[in-house]
Amino acid sequence: MDQTIVETMYQNLLTETKDQIFYITINREDKLNALNILTLTEIKNAVLSIYDDPSVRGVIITGKGSKAFAAGADIAEFANFNVEEGTRMSEEGHAVLRAIDHCPKPIIAAINGFALGGGNELAMSCHIRVCAERARFGQPEVNLGVTPGYAGTQRLAQLIGKGRALEFLMTGDMIDAQTALQLGLVNHVVPADQLMAKCEEIMNKIKTKAPMAIASVIRCVNAYYEKRADGNNIEINEFGNFFGSEDFIEGTKAFLEKRAPNFRGN
Ligand code: COA
Repeated sequence: MDQTIVETMYQNLLTETKDQIFYITINREDKLNALNILTLTEIKNAVLSIYDDPSVRGVIITGKGSKAFAAGADIAEFANFNVEEGTRMSEEGHAVLRAIDHCPKPIIAAINGFALGGGNELAMSCHIRVCAERARFGQPEVNLGVTPGYAGTQRLAQLIGKGRALEFLMTGDMIDAQTALQLGLVNHVVPADQLMAKCEEIMNKIKTKAPMAIASVIRCVNAYYEKRADGNNIEINEFGNFFGSEDFIEGTKAFLEKRAPNFRGN
């Protein structure tokens, strides 16, 4: 008989283990599962908790509700950060997503709705992405007067190529699920009610393989990209330096006041 273990140790996550799959659900539906720092830290702790747990063979991460996977970093939380806090935020985001990327067990993002900014970066750090037809993707940071800060500039270029990544990052446009599939940003698009089943189908197939071979595949593929690691540090510094700039203050203020920003270039 299947054993389901439901945990209640997190404030902003729901976690459970079933059939050797560890499920993480971001649980801030009223804020479109925006990734505040506590949520990010909890995701890191949850993922690290299964690294050496032999009862878990893989992880599926999703967002609570039908609207959002995660609508980005929490704008209300970081709007008043200074350069130091912005840099720290980016460093921590990088560390969390690295913990996902380097997890020795497969992690699948079940993208149930908006994956924007940090939400898209979270999805990109997972090993495989499956999305619902209604999912929407974007890196809208430029609308806020800032650059992506959770390795979006690095992983997006890796996943979809430099030219497409640059357009995506500079326009801040949102794209639909089919376009994401066409670009290679997601592996599969399915009707919303089949999202979990599709993720489980993939995970159950991987579960039949040798765990050490799976861990090795992840390590080897990651190794190819590690040589570009300097880009991560450049991004952390660039991101931090935006905090306190006039345009960043205007961009975040405009979002919170629900109006269009007026950027002046300083
Ligand atoms: N950070 C903090 N709060 C966020 C958020 C974020 N990234 N994204 C959404 N929210 C909050 C909204 O402020 C709102 O809160 P409120 O009800 O207290 O006012 C709530 O979630 C619902 O969002 P709302 O904007 O009203 O929903 P919508 O359907 O009109 O629009 C989006 C949906 C996704 C288009 C819009 O929320 C959005 O643009 N979000 C920001 C995306 C972004 O820039 N992400 C990158 C951050 S670095």
